[in-house]
Amino acid sequence: MEFADEIKNGLNTKYIGKKIYHFAEVDSTNDMAKKLADKCEDGTVVIADVQKRGKGRFGREWISPSGGIYLSIFLKPRMDPSNAPRLTLTFGLAVAKTIRKLGLDAKIKWPNDILINGKKVSGILTEADVNNNINYIIAGIGIDANVDIDTFPIELQDSATSLNRELKKPVNRVELIRELLEEIEKYYDIYFQDYHKILDEWRSLSDTIGRVVEIKTQKELIIGEAVGVDLEGELLVELSDGTLKKIIAGECIYME
Ligand code: BTN
Repeated sequence: MEFADEIKNGLNTKYIGKKIYHFAEVDSTNDMAKKLADKCEDGTVVIADVQKRGKGRFGREWISPSGGIYLSIFLKPRMDPSNAPRLTLTFGLAVAKTIRKLGLDAKIKWPNDILINGKKVSGILTEADVNNNINYIIAGIGIDANVDIDTFPIELQDSATSLNRELKKPVNRVELIRELLEEIEKYYDIYFQDYHKILDEWRSLSDTIGRVVEIKTQKELIIGEAVGVDLEGELLVELSDGTLKKIIAGECIYME
């Protein structure tokens, strides 16, 4: 059976993954989803076995060998573009919940890196096509499922992990993808109905709140204690002089 049909078989969603484009190899599933935008519906999924130029945040590469999960979800949310950071938290929560179903203690590093025992196992790159409204967004999710971290570039080896390493056995990628799409739909729906629930659950799985962090934004470097996230998904950082900084986007590094 084709991989896309295997996923759809038994998939319990209303719209996410009703249409799935599967490729053996692409440059980036996010870029492919953009190319296919005219053919995509709300909830269409683009998935690849391997990415040659997988994209991470901050222009970095996302190493994408066979065995990992690389997919992009095409969505047409009716919402103000300024609310996009809230969606970022929502997707991170859904991925963390999916991984927790495997019995692993997945936590979220702000804004949406998924960690197990302090090591990154999944990342999300959300891109949007915006004029005054959002035309579409693409939520690109990468999960180091059955990959050998020892083959990753040396500088990543200490900070990354994979599901098969943590579980000491391979995961069933088809089942995990189904679970992921179901969780994404569940939390995406909750997002529109009761955003506070997303925040409460996000906070309960946060690995960042309570830590001393260094945040690199486009214009400054901020050091302080992460004390919470606000309604917008902004990280609240308390500086040494007691002032509170709200950070909408940036790279978060733990200082201790
Ligand atoms: C990050 O943590 O830096 C984000 C990584 C996002 C990787 C995924 S893999 C599927 C999708 N396609 C891409 O090129 N990137 C995202």
